[in-house]
Amino acid sequence: MKILITGSKGQLGRELARQLKNRTGMELVMADIDELDITDATAVDETIRRIAPDMVINCAAQTQVDLCEEDRESARNINTKGASNLAEASHRNNAAIIHISTDYVFDGTRKEPYTEDDETNPLNIYGITKLEGEKEVMSGNPRHFVIRTAWLYGDGRNFVGTMLQLAEKGNTIKVVDDQRGSPTSTTELARAIIRLMDTEEYGIYHGTCEGSCTWYEFAQEIFRTAGMDVTLERCTSDEFPQKAVRPKNSVLDNRNFRERLGYRFLSWQEALREYLKGES
Ligand SMILES: NC(=O)c1ccc[n+]([C@@H]2O[C@H](COP(=O)([O-])OP(=O)(O)OC[C@H]3O[C@@H](n4cnc5c(N)ncnc54)[C@H](OP(=O)(O)O)[C@@H]3O)[C@@H](O)[C@H]2O)c1
Repeated sequence: MKILITGSKGQLGRELARQLKNRTGMELVMADIDELDITDATAVDETIRRIAPDMVINCAAQTQVDLCEEDRESARNINTKGASNLAEASHRNNAAIIHISTDYVFDGTRKEPYTEDDETNPLNIYGITKLEGEKEVMSGNPRHFVIRTAWLYGDGRNFVGTMLQLAEKGNTIKVVDDQRGSPTSTTELARAIIRLMDTEEYGIYHGTCEGSCTWYEFAQEIFRTAGMDVTLERCTSDEFPQKAVRPKNSVLDNRNFRERLGYRFLSWQEALREYLKGES
């Protein structure tokens, strides 16, 4: 199987490469923006025609949620048009597509975890452009997997790294305690993507580690697991204003992974333990 990974230098792209590179019968082509800018429709079409992959995995995105509010044009170009370019070109060239989306397509007003069938209503530009990207992928290539994940951490810029850096300064760390989600390691997400890739069970999937917490509880668990004594203080989203409004509850129910594939993710605490021990 030949796979083209776009956004390959991001957190998820790196982890997929790590897990896939030694698989027999697997040929990987890695492309980040320097090799393939997904907003360039001509380059996307030419590259996919030349490489002729069986599968395109789109890990490229504008993931800086607050930056998306400042530069809507760029967010839309990358998260929507880029996704559309890849879906159409992969379809024209007989490749399936795996596209990664986000929990921020929901508004967070639901009290229960969101299933794949729940109504979307994004609160910020990142969520709006990612939702539009999902729709483009679904209409552009019938052989699609759209995977919504959340609170992702791996090899790159992420909350776990930020907490560990802040802790080194020795000050009290204030963390938001009124947004709930499911922290997910790129290791766990990549494992699930690889499981899905071998099927033809196309559709939308929620793909997050099991269980949920607030950012404050996530920080507590990071320091407990790392064996660090750090003073944490709870705060509200209002006390920590950010350009983009975040949903209060973006916990996802991985119903389709469970029911269609019999696949379960590790709990967010187990995945964090694996990550901090360097086992993942
Ligand atoms: N991170 C999270 O917490 C989170 C949560 C939910 C969903 N997701 C989704 O999960 C996926 C993977 O996220 P991630 O954390 O691995 O992202 P990431 O680390 O930000 O990686 C994204 C990669 O895409 C590249 N890129 C940006 N614009 C591009 C373009 N026009 N053409 C090609 N490549 C481009 C980026 O390059 P530069 O760094 O140079 O811009 C970066 O290497 C994304 O679809 C994201 O929306 C992430």
